[in-house]
Amino acid sequence: MKYVWLDCDPGHDDATAIMLAVQCPQVKLLGVSTVHGNASADNTNSNAARCLYAFAAPEHIRVCPGANKPLIRPERHDPEIHGLDGLGGVEGLPPADTEGVQARLVAHGTPVRALEGMAKAISETWNNGQGNKVTMVSSGPMTNIALFVSVYPDLLEGIEEFVFMGGGVGVGNRSASAEFNILCDPEAAQIVLDVPTKKTMIPLNVTHTAIVTRSILSQLLAPDSSPAPIGGPLPKATTPLRHMLSTLIGFFADSYKSTFGFIDGPPLHDALTIAYVAQPELFSCRRFRVDVELSGTHTAGETVVDIWSYRACDESWGRNGKNCMVAESLNVEKFFELFLDCIARCDAV
Ligand code: BDR
Ligand code: CA
Repeated sequence: MKYVWLDCDPGHDDATAIMLAVQCPQVKLLGVSTVHGNASADNTNSNAARCLYAFAAPEHIRVCPGANKPLIRPERHDPEIHGLDGLGGVEGLPPADTEGVQARLVAHGTPVRALEGMAKAISETWNNGQGNKVTMVSSGPMTNIALFVSVYPDLLEGIEEFVFMGGGVGVGNRSASAEFNILCDPEAAQIVLDVPTKKTMIPLNVTHTAIVTRSILSQLLAPDSSPAPIGGPLPKATTPLRHMLSTLIGFFADSYKSTFGFIDGPPLHDALTIAYVAQPELFSCRRFRVDVELSGTHTAGETVVDIWSYRACDESWGRNGKNCMVAESLNVEKFFELFLDCIARCDAV
C-alpha cells in the first residue's frame, strides 16, 4: 500500500489524478492540497473539493488551501487550456456550495494550511503508523512542496519519494522549452530537485503518449458497448459520472486541438503521477541530474536533463547528485486499463 499526499491545481487532468488517487486499490490517499496554477488558488481549491465529492472520497479527506502565487514570479494561469475557473465545460460536477463539497474543505486561511496538512499526515503515518513513509505527489506548480521542504526539513525522513508531473526532455508546452507547471514556479521546482530524497519526474515526453482516443472515450462512456464505428456516433453515457467525465475530456480535447493541434485526443498528464505510484512497472525510468533554468533569456523554466552525464555527480538525490528518476516510457494500454477500472470502481460506490 502506498500512502499518498496529492498537491494539485485542478485542472481537467488533475481531476483525473484525484479520481485515481481515490479509487486505485494500491493507494491510500491521506489528503489533498491545492496551489495556484491552471486557475486561481480559490478556484483550484474548490475544484479539488468538488472532485473529491464527485469521486466518492471518504469525508475525512480534506482539501488544504496552499500558495496563491509563485515564490518570486508573477502569477500565471491557463484559461486557454482549462477555462476561466480551471474546470471549464465540465457538466454535472457539484457546485462549490454543495454541502458535501463544503464538508471536504479546510477553512480557508493562509497557505500554511497546506503545509500543516502535509506535516500532520507525514508525522502520523511515519511516527504513529508503524513507520510507513508517504509519497508526495505534485500535479501543479511546486510552490507548496518547496515551502514544505524548507519549513519542515526534519520530516523528509518520513517521505518515500516525490513524484511530479512537470518538465520535458527537450520539449515544452508553455514556451519553446518550458512545461507549464515548472514555468509557473521554476525556483520552487529547483528547491524540490535539490532535496536529498528520491524524486521521479513524469515529463511531457511520456504524458503526451497517454492520449484519450475515441476508442478510450467510447469505453469510458459505455464500458460494455462494441467499439464505435469510425465517424459514427459515440455511445451514450451509461451513468452520470461517465457523462461528467466525458464532458471533461471533451473540453480538454477541444483545448488541445485548438492550441496544440492534437487531433487524436487530449493527454492525461497528471493522472500518470498516481498511475506511477500505484503501478510503477508500467513505466521505464532512468536516473539523471535534472536542474531548472532560472535565468535563460529564451529558456526560463526549462528542465535541463543531463542525459550524457556532463556534470560530475555523486550518488545522492541532493544538490550534487543524480537527483531525479525521469520517466521515459509508459505502457499506454495498461495505463488506460487502470484508468477505466478506477471509473468502474467509482461508479460502483
Ligand atoms: C500540466 O499543466 C497543466 O495544464 C496540467 O494540469 C498539467 O499539470 C501539463 O503541462
Ligand atoms: Ca495540473
